[in-house]
Amino acid sequence: MRVLIRAVKHIYKQPLCNAASRERSIASSSEGSGLLQPRHEKLIFCSTAELSQGLGGNVEVRTEFISEEEESAFMKELEQGLRKKRYEFDHWDDAIHGYRETERERWGVMCTAVLERLRTVAFPKGSTLLGPVHVLDLDKAGYIKPHIDSVKFCGTTIAGLSLLSDSIMRLVKEDDAAQWLDLLLPRRSLYILRDQARYKFTHEILRDEDSVFDGQRVPRQRRISVICRNLPS
Ligand code: OGA
Ligand code: MN
Repeated sequence: MRVLIRAVKHIYKQPLCNAASRERSIASSSEGSGLLQPRHEKLIFCSTAELSQGLGGNVEVRTEFISEEEESAFMKELEQGLRKKRYEFDHWDDAIHGYRETERERWGVMCTAVLERLRTVAFPKGSTLLGPVHVLDLDKAGYIKPHIDSVKFCGTTIAGLSLLSDSIMRLVKEDDAAQWLDLLLPRRSLYILRDQARYKFTHEILRDEDSVFDGQRVPRQRRISVICRNLPS
């Protein structure tokens, strides 16, 4: 997956506004039932109501997409391999800071079932998925800078599970920084970025210090994401 990470388009934009000054509007609500953090009724906030309507189903967050048992199954499969690697902090030009990563094609029974479920809900019927699943382990001090995934290597849809920690993903329109969305990604949720949201907006994962959603602090711990992508058609 290194080629994918290296191939992402690096855009070193600073976050534009802080949460306190943002106009609040609802982009799309979660389909899941009980939210992890009841104080957050909505998981997506965006700069304008027009943007939320325009993006429609192109951005989705589903809470409690996996159970605690399924999260443990992923950790059991991944932890040993990840532990052998060191977190990388010192490449100034990397899109990702404080991370280690791996990819995996074959999974045990429980994880295979989760991934099958994920593929069914996230990807258009008939699309060909990138073979190996990408696993990204962000240290508590790690973060992902704004970027757009390589259009050469990935297609219309990016879908990711968040393990071990809540986090905030920020989307900013590439040619109009006034258009943005913050997604609260609770631990064990699934997010899906499609089409416009994937091609026209940068995405990033905020560092712990900046991790504020709707004026509320969302502490970032070590976070592992399990990311599926389809191939360009
Ligand atoms: C990436 C990326 C998001 C995540 O690896 O390109 O944007 O959820 N990851 O870790
Ligand atoms: Mn990305």
